[in-house]
Amino acid sequence: STYDVVIKNGIICTASDFYPADIGIIGEKIAAICDCIDPVHAGEIIDAEGGIVTPGGIDAHVHVDEPVKLLGDVADTMGEATRSAVAGGTTTIIAFASQDLSLTGPHALSQSVKNTTDMYSKQRLYCDYGLHMILARLEGTGTATRDILDQQLENVYQDCGVSSIKVFMTYPGLQMSDYNLLNAMYASRKNGITTMIHAENGDIVRWMTESLEEQGLLEPYYHGVSRPTIVEGEATNRAVTLARTMDNPILFVHVSSPEAIDTIRRAQTAGLKVYAETCPQYALLSDEDTKCAHGDDFAGAKNICSPPLRPEEVKQAIWRGMNNGSFTIVGSDHCAYLYSSKEKGKHNAFAKCENGRFRYIPNGMPGVCTRMPLLFDAVMRNRLSSLMKFVEINCTNPAKIYGCYPQKGGLLPGSSDADIIVWYPNDKQYDLQPEVITNDLLEHACDYTPYEGVEIKNWPRFTIARGKVVYKEGKLMHDNARGQYIRRKKSSLSSPNNAWPSEWRPAYDKK
Ligand code: URP
Ligand code: ZN
Ligand code: ZN
Repeated sequence: STYDVVIKNGIICTASDFYPADIGIIGEKIAAICDCIDPVHAGEIIDAEGGIVTPGGIDAHVHVDEPVKLLGDVADTMGEATRSAVAGGTTTIIAFASQDLSLTGPHALSQSVKNTTDMYSKQRLYCDYGLHMILARLEGTGTATRDILDQQLENVYQDCGVSSIKVFMTYPGLQMSDYNLLNAMYASRKNGITTMIHAENGDIVRWMTESLEEQGLLEPYYHGVSRPTIVEGEATNRAVTLARTMDNPILFVHVSSPEAIDTIRRAQTAGLKVYAETCPQYALLSDEDTKCAHGDDFAGAKNICSPPLRPEEVKQAIWRGMNNGSFTIVGSDHCAYLYSSKEKGKHNAFAKCENGRFRYIPNGMPGVCTRMPLLFDAVMRNRLSSLMKFVEINCTNPAKIYGCYPQKGGLLPGSSDADIIVWYPNDKQYDLQPEVITNDLLEHACDYTPYEGVEIKNWPRFTIARGKVVYKEGKLMHDNARGQYIRRKKSSLSSPNNAWPSEWRPAYDKK
């Protein structure tokens, strides 16, 4: 037969189109899309029965277990994170390789990435993954700092296909000075590396945390009180100024604050290359969810993340930002820690929370599985404007901004990997179609989901990764798992403006 697999009777939805058509797959690639492929040409047929067919999701913000544990002991291995991803319609995740601070020299970052991919190469992966580089500290002093990093970024791109870094404006041990943020942006611009920014003013967070502790206000809820929306707004504004100074495109990750959104929107209106990611939790949960519910003293800790969940009224600003284009992408920021030490005999990070102090609650929650279904559901509930918008922010834009389009994030015959989701038909109900979210459904290693019991209007019926069905009507197809590391190219969405606020120019641009 001409095609190994043919998906028939589906309605294809991409970031730009919505139309009924069949898809022919040869090997790992999409080979053809046309209005009708004769079943005689198909090795195997998947009948979509009128259901929506989309590209697989790209979740470009996922934290999994690494050789270097800068964020503590997270629950999921890469194997478990990819398993959970495909169970929720995501077929590529971009996780993080943390900088190993014991390594120095021009290939130090490359070595950190290689140590990470070596670890994952021993695991069964259900979908492909890429890696961003987390920069925790810069080597050298004065202008040497900038030049060492320049070399390291050139190498990490050449050696490993890593085209993005993440820098932090908060967290003890990770917080970067403005001086080093400038160094990071200088070296990023020179190498075409996407600069991801965690924008919170770490000094305000530290001051407020100490003062709240002094007043005996220790419960999970006060984590949010210690870092209100203006704390993110200030850091966002400062980072935009630093990025303008360097003429460097930037991307704000996990944006949750109306002040930050306003700053981003203003910068975009002024023509600056400023992009932003938000996460489902900021659109669907609120600071109420960090209060200790259900008679369980510490349950609020499950929903602690940074930036924190915001007051109820902020949710509408998040949906508006997705619909009006302020947010380029949605990522899960999956960063799961076991809540109960009794389960699975694994390390329980919450046990570290000395006297219940919020300062010691590990930051982050699970979400790699639920991102796609929750956002699809948001279209059904008219919160998100259209299914094309859903694909744009969850699949296509993440692939473009992080340099893996059109291999990923689209359905381009001859170019795209056969990473495809067939959703349940909207007008029928199937026995196997989940109606509410339960932790069992999510296939991650974490022992809870913030969305337990939440009603859901659709769920991936078939997840196809590299041409193979890896998830079918609630079941993982373990033998079809073929995930691998993907090298990425430079961003196809962002490039510098060649505009500076003074007559200063980088020396390399003067030649
Ligand atoms: O609370 C969060 N977001 N944890 C994950 C680490 C990060 O800052 O993205
Ligand atoms: Zn962050
Ligand atoms: Zn994160």
